Amino acid sequence: MNANSSNNSNPEQNNNPRASDSSTDVSTTNSPSHDRSAPTTTSSGQGQQMWGGRFSEATDSFVAAFTASVGFDQRFARHDIQGSIAHATMLKECDILEADDVATIIDGLHQVLREIEAGEFNWSIALEDVHMNVESRLTDIVGAVGKKLHTGRSRNDQVATDIRLWLREETDNIIALLVRLQSGLLDLAEQHTDTIMPGFTHLQTAQPVSFGHHVMAWFEMLYRDTERLVDARRRINQMPLGSAALAGTTFPIDRTITAELLGFEGICQNSLDAVSDRDFAIEFTSAASILMMHLSRMSEEIILWMSAQFNFVQIPDRFCTGSSIMPQKKNPDVPELVRGKAARVFGQLMTLLSLMKSQPLAYNKDNQEDKEPLFDCVDTLTGSLLAFADMLPNITPNKENMRAATMKGYATATDLADYLVRNGVAFRDAHEVVGNAVALGIKEGVDLSDLSLAQLQQFSDAIGDDVFEYLTLEGSLAARDHLGGTAPNQVKQAVSRGRTRLEIFA
Ligand code: ARG
Repeated sequence: MNANSSNNSNPEQNNNPRASDSSTDVSTTNSPSHDRSAPTTTSSGQGQQMWGGRFSEATDSFVAAFTASVGFDQRFARHDIQGSIAHATMLKECDILEADDVATIIDGLHQVLREIEAGEFNWSIALEDVHMNVESRLTDIVGAVGKKLHTGRSRNDQVATDIRLWLREETDNIIALLVRLQSGLLDLAEQHTDTIMPGFTHLQTAQPVSFGHHVMAWFEMLYRDTERLVDARRRINQMPLGSAALAGTTFPIDRTITAELLGFEGICQNSLDAVSDRDFAIEFTSAASILMMHLSRMSEEIILWMSAQFNFVQIPDRFCTGSSIMPQKKNPDVPELVRGKAARVFGQLMTLLSLMKSQPLAYNKDNQEDKEPLFDCVDTLTGSLLAFADMLPNITPNKENMRAATMKGYATATDLADYLVRNGVAFRDAHEVVGNAVALGIKEGVDLSDLSLAQLQQFSDAIGDDVFEYLTLEGSLAARDHLGGTAPNQVKQAVSRGRTRLEIFA
């Protein structure tokens, strides 16, 4: 079961959790070691677990460690306490608990939070999860009145509430990073509306585009990602609290009070659904996966463009590393790593979908497995965006190399065809004429604009001496002068619209 079974350094591995000190520190233990040589049961010390009343034997120590989530869900501590304070306040407002008791409970909860934030809290595996650790410490501090907090509530609605409060905050943080990144891209695009680079299809030179236009394509991708997250946030921000274990509670609670205190914009309408579904987390992870797919595509471009073969851009040295053997190397580690990390986020999406697909209503312990994938997804995305928000707006194009590359691939061939069409040639015929001209250019080793008028005219008498203004890169760019086109003047307008559009997220 665990290759590490000879490692007995954690005293709790050798003792039944009930018989051991319940304050065993697990703050650094994410996956407790599973020691099969440890005694599995004890006949003494029953009743220490919060739900121990109906049990006739103690939990197997391995099972206690295996089923505990406190190693990771302690990350919710602040949100758990925030939820408990709102719940207690509501119980008072609805005359379910006495005002004095609630005041004592809230003071106690603040103290628990202070201890956690100061790193002085002893997390215990025996107490299973963040919820019971907090409640148990509350009762240590305030005495028996602490035991009233769980009135009209279950860990099932409690954990669903914690995840949503936490994810709402993380989503806001991610949206803020996205806005920072997009606003940096707008600045970059604005500086390069008339910087010319080859546009590609099939990674073959296709038509000249403005580098600013390319950057604005990235902006658009990220803009939709932001919209997706803003939209997902509305469904994250619904309150399950009050659903209790699965069916609601017999106490006369008022869920609008807790919803308002916790800033939820809506209340989950069905208690069975509220405690069980994690679709809001799956939706977040889907949006995160699409976003990571976009960051990965951008990474791929940066990596290609930094190669000696392209030599289109520089990224600041702080995003690169060298090679231990090849002194000349400057490797684009950050974009490479982000490209790799996209795979990881896609994997977490599959984990969450698979976790949910076979669960009957309502809460099942399977759902405890929702946390680590979600944490990893949030951390990976946040890290990738932090790197990108600083790196991407600071790339420097090598204008001369980009221009030279554009000159190489007959990028203005379509412009010549369009010119012929305007002079009365049908497009399919024009396509043929230009194909012949390109073949001659390849044979002579020159660009279309370097062929003489006589050379061009042998393919079509619709070609006049004004043709050369259409064969220049600047002419080609400027001609695509409509909404969404690459003309520098259009890119300028796209940047200014982008600034306005971004304001709704700020
Ligand atoms: N640690 C549990 C989770 O993450 C909390 C809810 C436990 N509820 C229960 N009935 N065992 O899902």
